[in-house]
Amino acid sequence: MADKFYLTTAIDYVNGAPHIGHAYEKIMADVIIRQKRQILDDVYFLTGTDEHGIKIQKTSAKNNMTPQEFCDMNFSKFEAEWKLLEIDYDQIIRTSNPKHKKIVQKIFQKLCDKGDIYKHSYTGLYCSGCESFLNQRDLTEDGLCPDHLVKPEEVKEENYFFRLSKYKERIAEHIKTHPNFIQPAYRANEILNQLENIEDISVSRSKSSVSWGIDVLNDDSQIIYVWVDALSNYITALGFDFENPEELYKKYWPANVHLIGKDIIKFHSIYWIAILMALDLPLPETIFGHGWITIDETKMSKSLGNVIAPRDILKEYNLEHPDAFRYFMMSAAPYGKDGNYSDKDFKEKVNADLANNIGNLLNRSLNMLVKYFDGEIKEEFKTPSSCEIAKSAEETKQKVLSHFEKYEIAEAIGEIVDFSNSVNKYVTENAPWTLAKENKMSECAQVLYNILEAMRYISVMLYPMCPNISKDIMTQLSMPLNFKYDTLEWGKLNIGKITEKEKIKPVFLRIDSEFATDKKKEN
Ligand code: ME8
Ligand code: MG
Repeated sequence: MADKFYLTTAIDYVNGAPHIGHAYEKIMADVIIRQKRQILDDVYFLTGTDEHGIKIQKTSAKNNMTPQEFCDMNFSKFEAEWKLLEIDYDQIIRTSNPKHKKIVQKIFQKLCDKGDIYKHSYTGLYCSGCESFLNQRDLTEDGLCPDHLVKPEEVKEENYFFRLSKYKERIAEHIKTHPNFIQPAYRANEILNQLENIEDISVSRSKSSVSWGIDVLNDDSQIIYVWVDALSNYITALGFDFENPEELYKKYWPANVHLIGKDIIKFHSIYWIAILMALDLPLPETIFGHGWITIDETKMSKSLGNVIAPRDILKEYNLEHPDAFRYFMMSAAPYGKDGNYSDKDFKEKVNADLANNIGNLLNRSLNMLVKYFDGEIKEEFKTPSSCEIAKSAEETKQKVLSHFEKYEIAEAIGEIVDFSNSVNKYVTENAPWTLAKENKMSECAQVLYNILEAMRYISVMLYPMCPNISKDIMTQLSMPLNFKYDTLEWGKLNIGKITEKEKIKPVFLRIDSEFATDKKKEN
């Protein structure tokens, strides 16, 4: 399993346009994948959209559209947003596609054949926001769903039920014996507690209450429960089948990580795992539940009118690529924790790190190389890998790699920024301009070599978050656009004339415009 990497994201409900919360997850996925591609050849990145269920059925009706038309329209919005953010997935699956639907029907049938599905009359409380039945004990004091703050609907139906309870000991055992299975690890206890009270779940809905979904084979009065449909995407997308699965499935399943939000860990680490156990299929290695993004410390919601789309931010600040936004989002939340977006923090963070720190470092050093050495790096400028800066570059690289191994992206960014700070400090302390004035040219050359070689390290390490800025740095260093980690060995900077005055450009321009939300507040 070590030589391939398969990552999936949650598939988003397409009942609206994507917002920065959806974007956070897809950026994180893209960052993890880009970093894996820097070290591995065999990497697969799946994302998608979840198109069935009562919520989408209702919203499409409100919009006077068929559910399919409505999904098509909103799917395009997600697709366009991911393109804008340079989310470089291998596949984006839609659960309304016929191939997916056919395999989901077979999966459901297989569970029936195994005796794990039975018919049962039921009364329950259904939250369409969760697309899930809730227990009385889960509700707020006012009887509302704690996540969506709406009153769940009382549903009385005859449905198909899945024998989830049959698998509960095996799941608990798996969680306890695989410390990396649920990440962050502190969320595993929550799941173990929920497992204790778990009961069999309804896995179909009557067509009279929900019609937009996948039919149960041989029973046209029932629709397959949207979560069984949705979770199966992780294998249907790879061409899973019981008899003749496709090469993609054989190569990539089981997933190395299902990257999802903290609100849906239960569906992944209990429901999905039970289904896989029932089907005798291998289990994913890790379920990573990331935190949630708020705006100005407030939960995003349509009713509050504070929903922001990434494209609004890019437009507001006239950004020609998504790097600054990607960078900010990945710095916003430490490992597994919630994060916050505010215009003020965004501007401060990207100006400080990308413009003043990293960008300025490159700019100053290239300008000095032009001024003192006509833009040329000579063989004798080279410094040994035993020098301070080289050692610190190597140490940073190791720390960044090890953070990424644990999906600690904000922490990896922290290391890069610390390193860049220390290089800035090195410039101040060694003052190459003074060395030049005193005509200590060989010392001056070595200082510049150290800074530029450090910049090459920064460019590789920063690449997953900021692919455009990293390419720009490499280009200005006259290096090929190769961001593989095996290029990171001290002393590989190109020898020769690498730049001239006209070629030096800031890699990131400071954002100086007004805060969008402040303007809104004034109006
Ligand atoms: O749950 N911050 O879809 P969804 C961070 N279709 N992440 C957020 C967020 C926020 N403010 N808001 C949402 C579903 N998310 C199902 C998934 S998977 C087989 C089916 C995350 O559109 C959320 O946690 O409600 C989830 O991982 C993803 O966006 C899609 O949420
Ligand atoms: Mg949701």
